[in-house]
Amino acid sequence: MKVLITGGMGVIGAETSRKFVNEGHRPVVMARHRDDRLIDDIVDNIDFEAGDILDWPRLLEIIKKHKVTHIVHAAAFVGAVSASNPALSIQVNVMGMVNVLEAARAFDIRRVVYTSAKGIYGPVLGEYGPPHYKPIPEDAPKNPQRIYDSAKLMGEQTGIYYANNMGVDVAIIRFATTYGPGKTARHGKMGVTSQIVENPFHGLPFHHPAGGDAKDDFIYNKDSAAGIYLATVADKVPSRVYNIGSGVAHSLNDFADVLRKKIPGADIKIGPGTNFLGMPYPPHGVYDVSRARTELGFTAQYDIERAIGDYLDSLKRMQARGI
Ligand SMILES: NC(=O)c1ccc[n+]([C@@H]2O[C@H](COP(=O)([O-])OP(=O)(O)OC[C@H]3O[C@@H](n4cnc5c(N)ncnc54)[C@H](O)[C@@H]3O)[C@@H](O)[C@H]2O)c1
Repeated sequence: MKVLITGGMGVIGAETSRKFVNEGHRPVVMARHRDDRLIDDIVDNIDFEAGDILDWPRLLEIIKKHKVTHIVHAAAFVGAVSASNPALSIQVNVMGMVNVLEAARAFDIRRVVYTSAKGIYGPVLGEYGPPHYKPIPEDAPKNPQRIYDSAKLMGEQTGIYYANNMGVDVAIIRFATTYGPGKTARHGKMGVTSQIVENPFHGLPFHHPAGGDAKDDFIYNKDSAAGIYLATVADKVPSRVYNIGSGVAHSLNDFADVLRKKIPGADIKIGPGTNFLGMPYPPHGVYDVSRARTELGFTAQYDIERAIGDYLDSLKRMQARGI
């Protein structure tokens, strides 16, 4: 098995590259620019290839050169820059997937694993929303609100189309709310789940105006990477689409409790309410992860206590290396 990981130096991409290395593989990591900061411990165990996912001939060249058999497609145009540039968001996030699928078709790639997002479900309403938080199954209604989320859903549906009509084996992974080290290095301004860990680590306060009552499904990035790995190596992916989450409801206040234990004196204050992202609709909810458990053998290994401990250890290591 030879796996190509597009975007394999990104936040989740780097954990995925590390997971494959730890499992004894030598992945080919493709990215537009080389930036080893999140994979400096494994650089000798990967092959780097520079390339843009929109450059189809280059993608074919890389697959041919390394005799790639499986593709994890984790390259994406994410975040606020994606929201302010819908055309490029659609190009990279949809046409990038089409390029991967066409390459898979041309080279008889054995499986393509596509990394999708919780935002494809859109507003979390009714029994899935507060205060019920019934676990959200994969076939819950989809109503993406942001261009990135719409593009990710189109990427998914394109994958399913190729699976049903073009003979390409595709697995789709929908992450819950992800967290873990590396977002600062990659994305600059940190998300709430990064700030609540990183501010106390740096001796800074974390005061968040709202959302202390929101329940959400937080998945640590090492678990996200494990989900990708299992979807890649599984003999079969009968349902094709899998929620990858912890399946457990937690609040930011639960994070705060863990952090106060690990960093005595941590100054954390979270206001009330059920929306800590400040989005114009309820974005929080908990995943039904029974399908991933049954079909992929996936269970999250990092509860918030273990994950935050690992996160803080990683921050110490990154600080020592000047990252
Ligand atoms: N991090 C999250 O919270 C999260 C949540 C849900 C889903 N996802 C999905 O998981 C995947 C990985 O996310 P991540 O956190 O590692 O993102 P990231 O932004 O850290 O990494 C994405 C990588 O893709 C690369 N990339 C962007 N455009 C490219 C192009 N045109 N050609 C080649 N490479 C390109 C970037 O250079 C970057 O290294 C993405 O598909 C993302 O949509 C992430």
